[in-house]
Amino acid sequence: MRTGTPSRTALAAATHRAAHQVIEGGRIFADPLALRILGQDAEAVAREAEQDPSRRLMQLFIAVRTRFAEDALAAAVERGVSQLVVLGAGLDTYAYRSPFGAQLRVFEVDHPATQAWKRQRLEEAAIPLPDTLTFAPVDFERQTLAEGLAAAGFDPGYRTFFTWLGVVPYLTEEAAWSTLGYIAGIPGGEHVVFDYSDPPGTLAPERRAYHDRHAARVESLGEAWVTYFEAAALRTRLEALGFTEVEDLGPAQIAARYFALRAAAQRERGGHIVRASRLPLGG
Ligand SMILES: C[S@@+](CC[C@H](N)C(=O)[O-])C[C@H]1O[C@@H](n2cnc3c(N)ncnc32)[C@H](O)[C@@H]1O
Repeated sequence: MRTGTPSRTALAAATHRAAHQVIEGGRIFADPLALRILGQDAEAVAREAEQDPSRRLMQLFIAVRTRFAEDALAAAVERGVSQLVVLGAGLDTYAYRSPFGAQLRVFEVDHPATQAWKRQRLEEAAIPLPDTLTFAPVDFERQTLAEGLAAAGFDPGYRTFFTWLGVVPYLTEEAAWSTLGYIAGIPGGEHVVFDYSDPPGTLAPERRAYHDRHAARVESLGEAWVTYFEAAALRTRLEALGFTEVEDLGPAQIAARYFALRAAAQRERGGHIVRASRLPLGG
């Protein structure tokens, strides 16, 4: 990220979520605050999305990852999880529409410049800050998550769910594993949901071309993608950290679960969304 400036990709992700509300009626992921936090009207968002139809794939992926994370979170809260940490929150609106009230404390962790911009957006949009919310400014590349969360009053002993959407690709592998190690190492670190992509060299030509276009775009915004994973190696390493349940949806599973496209090629590679848990989520 560029020093001192808010994340441009956070704005892009929020724009995709808003476009999903306007164009697809929030069919996969309904967010009544998505447009409001952005401060744009529906027509402007639709016009921008329609100018570039190639954005639709990312729009749907972002809707899916957010829906997957919030469904898993709801199941975890039903089973007693009482804290949520939103890592690299961007303009995520969960804290402002959580159905769990006082049952769930929420910590929003983000780069200080992005968080300051979000707080301004919230104020301008007159979105009230719930008592259950605490902001924790942290730069993952310079500070440990432990320090940032401790300063915000986070209690690592309470059962906690972490969401980490659209962030891992932008971090060094070392920074990503340090955060995963932290989550696995605290007494209450129970679940984490994050997304990643298969390495570009393993993608089919059409996907590779799509990836390269998008990668060039985020790089030009000063936020290059630098970390990719192979699913099998990722699973092995997550299990070694103590995550006993790893649910990893690749493109074929996403197509089947969210778009009822059962014919999707089983070996197709691309974006993944993963939940790693130290305690079973279901059952
Ligand atoms: C693509 S945005 C995703 C935002 C949000 N999670 C979403 O899905 O809309 C990437 C987020 O990662 C955060 N981020 C990137 N590098 C970071 C770093 N070194 N420290 C803290 N946050 C970082 C940015 O501030 C931004 O909010």
